[in-house]
Amino acid sequence: MSGTPVIERLSQHRLLPVVVASGEPEGLGTADALESGGLPVAEFTFRVPGAADALAAVRAKRPDILAGAGTIINVDQVDQAVAAGAQYLVSPGISDDVVRRATSHGIPIVPGVATPTDIMRALDLGIDTVKLFPAAALGGLSTLAALAAPFPDVTFVPTGGIGPTNAADYLAHRSVIAVGGSWMVQRSAISHGDWNAITEATQEAVAAIAALTRK
Ligand code: 3PG
Repeated sequence: MSGTPVIERLSQHRLLPVVVASGEPEGLGTADALESGGLPVAEFTFRVPGAADALAAVRAKRPDILAGAGTIINVDQVDQAVAAGAQYLVSPGISDDVVRRATSHGIPIVPGVATPTDIMRALDLGIDTVKLFPAAALGGLSTLAALAAPFPDVTFVPTGGIGPTNAADYLAHRSVIAVGGSWMVQRSAISHGDWNAITEATQEAVAAIAALTRK
């Protein structure tokens, strides 16, 4: 799965904004603000009503955005996300049923893991890119490094408690392809239509990543 085009694109951007948007205007506004900030990527979390509408609008009207569905916790949501045009799925945890349903649709899924057992389950299901969640609460970078050591072929998207002050530390680890988080796309900015705030936070994050790559 790590070789799929979607995972490759995510690895290039290195940032996965976790978006809580409901309905078409919030979806399109957030996608446009992210793209203006230099990051044509968005994970629309299925934790609010209207998330599928936000995602579907972005897929229909903003084809350049790499748009997926997050907080996918059951097979019905897999089907809804696929129907909305999701290009990838993200889960907070790992469920065999959810992963198998995603695989049956041929869509990449990044399940959440918190333990070595979770990672072994992911591997059994044919998944080698996982979301370490909730990364900071699990112990942050030292936990990531300890979990990554026995699994050199597994790549991680740490998420949860990541922001401008610690994103670079995670990204410096060889097993980390990208970090996820909501810091660029605050829920209050989305609900108030404060698109400039999102664009500015995104520009800052993208610039910090570019500086890392130059080092
Ligand atoms: C998620 O669902 O991935 C998290 O809510 C994102 O965590 P954060 O809000 O701490 O970035």
